[in-house]
Amino acid sequence: MSGADVFITRAVEALKKEIGGKAIIACSGGVDSTVSAVLASMAVGDRLLAVYVDTGLMRKGETEEVRAMLEGMRMNYKVIDASEEFFAALRGVRDPEAKRKAIGRLFIEVFEREAKKFGAEYLVQGTIAPDVLESGKDGKGLVKSHHNVGGLPEEMGMKVVEPLVELYKEDVRGIARALGIKSSERQPFPGPALSVRCLDEVTPENIAIVREACAIVEDEIKGAAAGGRMELPWQYFAILLPTRSVGVHGDERAYGRTIAVRAISSKDGMTATHSRIPPEVLDSISKRITDSMEDKVNRVVYDITNKPPATIEWE
Ligand code: XMP
Repeated sequence: MSGADVFITRAVEALKKEIGGKAIIACSGGVDSTVSAVLASMAVGDRLLAVYVDTGLMRKGETEEVRAMLEGMRMNYKVIDASEEFFAALRGVRDPEAKRKAIGRLFIEVFEREAKKFGAEYLVQGTIAPDVLESGKDGKGLVKSHHNVGGLPEEMGMKVVEPLVELYKEDVRGIARALGIKSSERQPFPGPALSVRCLDEVTPENIAIVREACAIVEDEIKGAAAGGRMELPWQYFAILLPTRSVGVHGDERAYGRTIAVRAISSKDGMTATHSRIPPEVLDSISKRITDSMEDKVNRVVYDITNKPPATIEWE
């Protein structure tokens, strides 16, 4: 038996003992929450409800992909469209930590509703070791309050189950592969989703811009990596900056939006170096972004900082 198989057997046995009633999990489709959901459903079957919340802040095509995956895994699941509520909660909120808090609070509300309806007593979470370290739970400094850690469980009055809390990302990916989960090679994506990649106000229009830019960056970089032109980075995405700058659109002076491109390599997200994207790939990213959103975006810049001193996300 491989290390991953041993972990799976042990985790399922432990979950059978730990979960004494109905359980609920927020499944974002990311590797951590999906692995946790699959392990818990292997342990307790339909006593687990996996809830996917469409916050309106997800990547292009993501909700449809996650729905198809949950369907394929034959899990007891529910997709909830809460996008209007999320945009309302984020209206006028600019501070990154305030965004995380607003999103965290609304998650609690949405979950409480679903958990009550289902009668869940247990909350399964996909928390992994770096989430705990960076959220200062162990007494170390707070870098960012990753919203899946802290406050939430106590307030919800459910017993928290965290099957992956001792693991790092690479371990979780190995377990996902062993479980046959399709998302195992997906890049990490933050809980507050595109809201922390939108440094301007979080509106449906601004999120649509950063969503399209992220999709182009992903597509170009995946293509370049598949063609052997670069290594596939750990994370690669776009950020909408609050800066406007002067450009030309046709014969007219335009005052447009700015997109930053970020690609980093990392082992565990704790430290990172910026990836070397080949110039022709950068060129293609820039052209596609400005062509597809020519009336909105007129400038694309490239982030060449490591972590530290920067963090991976801009917020
Ligand atoms: P930073 O930006 O802190 O990111 O260097 C480290 C890793 O964590 C992700 N990240 C988050 N994940 N909730 C999450 O679940 C968050 O609020 C959050 N902020 C950052 C980030 O994408 C990277 O993989």
